[in-house]
Amino acid sequence: MNKDEILLANKEFLFPAVFHYFSDPLVLEKAKDQYVWDADGHQYLDFFGGILTVSVGHCNDAVNAKIHEQVDKLQHVSTVFATEPQAALAKKIASITPGNLTKSFFTNSGTEANETAILAARCYTGSTEIVALRHSYHGRSALAMAMTGQDTWRMGPPMPNGIVYAHNAYCYRCPFGLEYPSCEIRCATDMEEMIRTTTSGRIAGMIAEPIQGVGGFVTPPKEYFPIVAEIVRNHGGIFISDEVQTAWGRTGHKWFGIEQWGVTPDIITSAKGLGNGLPIGLTVARPEVADSLRGITISTFGGNPVTNAAAKAVIDFIEDQNLAVNAAVMGAYLRGKLEELRDKHPLIGDVRGMGLMQALELVEDRKTKKPAKAATAQVMEAARRNGLLIGKGGLYGNVLRISPPLNIGKADIDNFAVALDASFAECATPELAGVGSK
Ligand SMILES: Cc1ncc(COP(=O)(O)O)c(C=O)c1O
Repeated sequence: MNKDEILLANKEFLFPAVFHYFSDPLVLEKAKDQYVWDADGHQYLDFFGGILTVSVGHCNDAVNAKIHEQVDKLQHVSTVFATEPQAALAKKIASITPGNLTKSFFTNSGTEANETAILAARCYTGSTEIVALRHSYHGRSALAMAMTGQDTWRMGPPMPNGIVYAHNAYCYRCPFGLEYPSCEIRCATDMEEMIRTTTSGRIAGMIAEPIQGVGGFVTPPKEYFPIVAEIVRNHGGIFISDEVQTAWGRTGHKWFGIEQWGVTPDIITSAKGLGNGLPIGLTVARPEVADSLRGITISTFGGNPVTNAAAKAVIDFIEDQNLAVNAAVMGAYLRGKLEELRDKHPLIGDVRGMGLMQALELVEDRKTKKPAKAATAQVMEAARRNGLLIGKGGLYGNVLRISPPLNIGKADIDNFAVALDASFAECATPELAGVGSK
């Protein structure tokens, strides 16, 4: 199929809810390391990695060697049979998780990982109520959509009940109109009253992304998670860290994002970057929490030997190449470049993130902070023309998400910054940028 036939077939044979970035959707044909190529042979520097999924570069040689080896040896068995790749991966994960998070359950996606975590929280505590955060994203099953605090990502009829939504720590747009640090972290301390006024007071737990991914890389201050985790535990709940985007060294120095806040969760969920593109979901819990899931369960593709061999190879590669440190060092370098862009382009209202997970929030006016949604789309289009792939996010659709592979180097960040600068310059005139339009 050529490019037009692919897009036509998508339109005719896929659910229309499947959408693509860009007014002229990009059809990708191949990829290697930090680059992807479209159907017309154009090369792009990929600073989005699928969606924070290509953690160690596209078609990474070390990971793919393990995939090839495994796919020719044993491709599928299902969880009713034991295999070495699943055992080896679970053992490795237990050795790098914080605290006593040693028991894993493997599925196919972040959504399933979160489903498993909520089930475990409910079995363990005997309570049902769950605290989620506004602006969060937790997946696309009925439960995961219900826990997602963004209307854009909720489809269909009303959501299951038993979920309440706390304020997130969105300092750039503080829900209380306060400023850090004089706010005394009101968004966190509000959790006490929120639980007492909107639940029975005996909750199953809280699920939160350390840095809200789809929500636009909203990054809480250092005090936030210690405060909320304590309040949640005082009300009988457990703390679930959704690390679908923040795990595996991306935030710098630490394996898991929540470690940046010094909080040890009861469950960590992950997916995306663990498989470097192969479908995987992980729920890893304290033994007592895992053990509370009585009865038996099965996952046809969870624990798949090929996927698990790939995931183990990803972790080994990150460890061998010291990529959590690279994420910190290159992340700081990238951050410096983004701050230079902010000083130059009035469209950029905020720069935030950690490690190699950085975002730019675009506003029409730095005083009013009116979200520059149309301009954000224009900058993305311009970036594409300039050979760059970046992502979009945020409740208002005005955040550019930047997440190169963890093994990115300085030269690529320099090239990225030059191309992004040019893209902003192209959108500098209000007409081009769509500023002022709806
Ligand atoms: C934080 C977070 N949780 C859960 C999910 C759902 O993962 P999946 O799309 O693999 O089901 C995502 C996906 O973007 C995510 O970012």
